[in-house]
Amino acid sequence: MTDARPIFEAEGLQAGYSDVNILHGVSVSVPRGGTVSVIGPNGSGKTTLLRALFGFIPLRGGRVVFRPEGAEHDVSDLPPHRRTALGIGFVPQLDNVFPSMTVRENLELGAFLEPGRTVAERLERVYAWFPLLAERRRQRAGTLSGGERQMLALARALMPNPKLLLLDEPSAGLAPMVVDAIFEQLEEINHAGISLMIVEQNARRSLAMSDWGYVLELGRNRFSGPGPDLLHDPKVVDLYLGGRGRLAAAGELAGEDYEATPPAERLRRRR
Ligand SMILES: Nc1ncnc2c1ncn2[C@@H]1O[C@H](COP(=O)(O)OP(=O)(O)OP(=O)(O)O)[C@@H](O)[C@H]1O
Ligand SMILES: [Mg+2]
Repeated sequence: MTDARPIFEAEGLQAGYSDVNILHGVSVSVPRGGTVSVIGPNGSGKTTLLRALFGFIPLRGGRVVFRPEGAEHDVSDLPPHRRTALGIGFVPQLDNVFPSMTVRENLELGAFLEPGRTVAERLERVYAWFPLLAERRRQRAGTLSGGERQMLALARALMPNPKLLLLDEPSAGLAPMVVDAIFEQLEEINHAGISLMIVEQNARRSLAMSDWGYVLELGRNRFSGPGPDLLHDPKVVDLYLGGRGRLAAAGELAGEDYEATPPAERLRRRR
């Protein structure tokens, strides 16, 4: 029987840098097999949230639970490589490939930690998703286009066969056609059973493909709801997808609309 509980759940997260707290009790959750978007103004703490979720910065409060099929792990205090070993992948926003290494070498770096498969098998699986990377396997990553680099970063995170991918602005700085290609790729990856948490500036596109969306503001949950509903919620449109984002960024609008984590029964199934 399929486990109906969320595959990933974080509750009351507090984290920050030196003596500054950036996250003030953020809660997010990813339904099993689902896609979740996190949006919010610049500086609202989206990248900090992903860093805390993957273990790059320590938690000062709250906890993070990962539930691959049939198991539950409290990963709150685990370093990133242990989270990877359990099935959590991370695609950082910037500096996500090694420019002087070839495409294939970059991929091989991501190939550790999956018992029972050879590097060659893992490369084959990833090349099947990204035929363009197969063609360019001997090319240095630094010579790839922005979109190709993003594909490479995505492909590398897929090498250990994760169950969940955390992505920080996968479409940042890319031309509209390339953005389309990245989102199509993400949908394919999700249809293959990998759960996704996507932080995006490209909020419309990201919410449209998400079962659930969260809006962060000043390190706190502000709104949440099914992705397409948020996309049409006048308050969200007005504040984050339209012209009044400044007010929200300045904290002039108090939050009262954060409702819940995604209940499994509301999960919109596309399969
Ligand atoms: N390494 C760091 N040291 C100190 N402060 C930091 C560090 N990284 C981020 N911050 C601060 O934390 C706050 C949240 O930044 P964060 O990068 O998480 O925002 P974001 O929502 O990802 O923004 P953007 O949309 O611009 O990517 C900002 O005020 C930022 O200045
Ligand atoms: Mg960011």
